[in-house]
Amino acid sequence: MVQLSHLIENLPPFHFADAKRRIAEKTAQGVDVVNLSVGDPDLPAPPQVVERLCAEMRVAENHRYPEYRGMQELHEAIARWFQHRFGVELAPQREIMPLIGSKEGLVYAASCVLNAGDIALAPDPYYPVYISASASVGAQTYLLPLREENGFLPDLQSIPGDVLAKARLLWLNYPNNPTAASAPRSFFEQAVALAHQHNLALVHDMAYAEVYYDNHERPLSLLEIPGAKEVTVELHSLSKTYNMAGFRIGMMVGNPTLVDAVARLKSNVDSGIFRPVQYAAIEALNLPEDWILERNVIYKRRRDALVQGWNALGLRAPLNQAGLYVWASVPQGFTSKQFADWLFEKAGVFLTPGTNFGPSGEGYVRISLTAPEERIQLALERIQRAFSS
Ligand SMILES: Cc1ncc(COP(=O)(O)O)c(C=O)c1O
Repeated sequence: MVQLSHLIENLPPFHFADAKRRIAEKTAQGVDVVNLSVGDPDLPAPPQVVERLCAEMRVAENHRYPEYRGMQELHEAIARWFQHRFGVELAPQREIMPLIGSKEGLVYAASCVLNAGDIALAPDPYYPVYISASASVGAQTYLLPLREENGFLPDLQSIPGDVLAKARLLWLNYPNNPTAASAPRSFFEQAVALAHQHNLALVHDMAYAEVYYDNHERPLSLLEIPGAKEVTVELHSLSKTYNMAGFRIGMMVGNPTLVDAVARLKSNVDSGIFRPVQYAAIEALNLPEDWILERNVIYKRRRDALVQGWNALGLRAPLNQAGLYVWASVPQGFTSKQFADWLFEKAGVFLTPGTNFGPSGEGYVRISLTAPEERIQLALERIQRAFSS
């Protein structure tokens, strides 16, 4: 009989895999489910990207194994993009590692930094991979609550000394999923100082770097902070930035020791990124900034419609400044999960309960902006009807 490891026995199914099953079941019953749960961009990838992918597919040389560390041209495009966007110089090959989406980079970063018995510090609510990546190497997670009154920033001063003594990694994620908060420079400075003081690796997940609104100051890279590169790697992704989630491409940048360790581990696990996808990524990274700004106008219209409608229901949803989500309050008398389940049953609207992202998500649901405005309006109308009945 096959005996499964403790790791897999303790690993819950990834929420969105389970969500897909629930939605499919409901759809089979004839319900037109409005799915506002997952941050999977519905808008197409830029046409130049698609054309380049198709053209490179026809080149036989590209059908061979790709380079383990990614093509030099891709490294150079990432370095140019980073310099232009954040004013930070990155050395191609040494400080850049292309990835099959940023998600795998989170898991590799944990494996390269943590040993069994170490502590990883994680925000709560969190992107669930931080917890499973830490657990996969036998590390414990110490949760740092993100509270609305603190702008959804963790209180780094509150971490007990005995926890800091065993901590090796601090997960950060701004623009934040799920709270949609951004971090100010002063917070990043504090995090870098803490990392230097306690030999922590900072792993900053910046998957939502390029989704922001209202002429809000563009989200900062943690690598803009002096001294950050000695302690930090940052994950970027073309999934949300260029509507390329299905292409599976992202990158880790920053500390060369950790980037090199990840490259070593990764080359033992997979054999690089399909070259046409790398060429498509180069095309995306070379796009003018207007492409991002125009795309963000569409998300802004959706966000405005959603926040207005949610508040009109007598609930509370702050205007997010960045990221793909609205972090909205649930009505009194419901837990997050009860409310999400009730909406699914009564209104055929699928949202994510805040507690899927950790205990501090209680009292909230996460609503994704990756559906057309008409679908968001339809969801609001159905929720209104469910409330009235
Ligand atoms: C916070 C965060 N990090 C990382 C990812 C993974 O993105 P990808 O692997 O598509 O780059 C996601 C996807 O939803 C996310 O929300």
